[in-house]
Amino acid sequence: MSHAFQQCIHPDCQTTYDLGQILTACKKCGSLLDIQYNWDRVSVPSSMKEFEKRWASRLNPLDFSGVWRFRNLLPFPADSDIVTIGEGQTILQKNDLLGAKIGMNADSLFLQYEGLNPSGSFKDNGMTAASTHAKMVGAKITACASTGNTSASLAIYAGVSGLFKCVVFVGSGKIAYGKLSQALDYGATTLQIKGDFDDALARVRELCDQHPIYLCNSVNPFRLEGQKTIMYRIMEGLGWEVPDWIVVPGGNLGNSSSFGKAFIELKQLGLIDRVPRLAIINAAGASTLDQLFNSDELRWNDGKNDSDLIRNYYEVMDKEDQRASTLASAIEINRPVNLVKALRALSFCDGVVRSVSDQQIVDSRAMIAATGFGCEPASGATIAGLQMLREEGVIAASDRVACVLTGHQLKDPDLTVAYHTGDPKKHEEKLHPAGVFEMPYANPPIVVENDVAAIVSALGLG
Ligand code: F0G
Repeated sequence: MSHAFQQCIHPDCQTTYDLGQILTACKKCGSLLDIQYNWDRVSVPSSMKEFEKRWASRLNPLDFSGVWRFRNLLPFPADSDIVTIGEGQTILQKNDLLGAKIGMNADSLFLQYEGLNPSGSFKDNGMTAASTHAKMVGAKITACASTGNTSASLAIYAGVSGLFKCVVFVGSGKIAYGKLSQALDYGATTLQIKGDFDDALARVRELCDQHPIYLCNSVNPFRLEGQKTIMYRIMEGLGWEVPDWIVVPGGNLGNSSSFGKAFIELKQLGLIDRVPRLAIINAAGASTLDQLFNSDELRWNDGKNDSDLIRNYYEVMDKEDQRASTLASAIEINRPVNLVKALRALSFCDGVVRSVSDQQIVDSRAMIAATGFGCEPASGATIAGLQMLREEGVIAASDRVACVLTGHQLKDPDLTVAYHTGDPKKHEEKLHPAGVFEMPYANPPIVVENDVAAIVSALGLG
C-alpha cells in the first residue's frame, strides 16, 4: 500500500482510491474526498521547529516555497513532480493599532497576510498542490469556476509552468476587475457564464465529468492539502505556538476545511497539544453556513450529518431563486461545496460562525488598510467578524487571534475608490444598492487648483 491515498470522508463509506485517480467526489456515495497518509511510512519531524532548518537552504525552490517547506506534512508527490512558483512567502504580522480599535489587548491581534502570494491571494497555496497533482496525472487541460482569485491563481500556474492549458469560468458581472485582468493577462481561456458563481461551478463540474479536463476548484482534495500550510505559517509566526482563535472568511469553505484538517493531523501526529478555535465569517448576503449552523443547528455529528436538512435548504433556495449578493464578491457563494468538511473543522476546533453586513465589511476593510495592510473586501469580513465576537464576549481582549487576510487590496480597486471618493455615481452603482450608506473611514482626495498658494491653503499650512 502506498503512503498516501484518497479517501471518502463519509464514515459509513470510507472508500479509498489511489493517488493516480482524478476525482472530486467519492464514486460510491458522492461524498467529498480527503488525502490521507500512512504516517508511519513517511518521515515526519518530531517537532514543528525542525522545519526552520529549511530557511538555510532556500536556494532550493522546494525549501523557498512556504507550502513545500512543509512537504513532510503533505507528502503526496515526489519532489520532482512539485510545481512551485515561490508561493507562501507570507508571514504573520502583529497589528496592535488595529487591535486597539476593536477592543483587543496589545500583542493579541495578528494578521496572516496572504495577499502577498504571487497571484495576490491565498489560492496559490492550494494551486501549487493541485498543479502538482495535475502534473502527476499528466493533465493537459485544467479548469475552474471562480469569483476571481481561483482563476487568477490557476492562470498563473498554467502560464508559468507551461504544463497545461487552462479554462476559467466566471459569472458575468460578478468579478472584480483586478482579478479578471489577471486571468486574461496570464493567457487563460476565460468564459463569462450568464449566471453567478454557483452556476459557473455547476457547469464546470459537468464539463470536467464529461471530458478529460482536470478540475482545480476546492472539491479537488489535493488543492486543500496546500492550504493547510497557512496554519503552519501562523504557528511559525507565534514561535510554533497555537493561537486561541483563527478567523477566516467563508465562501466555498475550502480554507476553513483545510485549516481543520491541518489541526486534526497535527494533533494526531503529536505535533501540537491543543487546537485553536475557528471563527468562520460569512457575508450576510451569502450566509448559507451561518443559516444552517446557527439557525438550523446543522452539525458534523461524526460525519453522519443531516443531509435532508441541507437538501431542503437548497430546495427552498432554488424555489425562491435566492441568489448570493454581497459587495465582497469573492465570497458571493450560496452553495459552498465544502460545507460538510467545514462542519468537521467547526466540530474539531469548537468553532463559531457569524455573518457580517456589507457596511461592516467595507468599513473593516478600510480600517485594516488604514493600518497598512491592504486587503480586498472578503478579507475585511474577518475583522468585522472579530469585532462582533468581541462585542458578544465570545472572544476575549487577551485572546491571541490570527485573522487570515485572504486577498490583496489591488484586487478590487473600484470598490475602494468608490468608498473613499464618495463619488455620487460610484456610490449609486456600487455601494447604495448593497445597503452601504456611511463611509466613516473615507479618505477622499482634495481637489485643488494648480497653484502653490492654493495647495498651501488646502493643506492648512497658510
Ligand atoms: N477570500 C478571498 C479573497 C477569496 O477569493 C475567497 C474565495 C474566499 C475568501 C473564500 O474562501 O472559498 O475557501 O471559503 N474565492 C474563490 C474564488 C471562491 O473563486 O476565487 P473559501
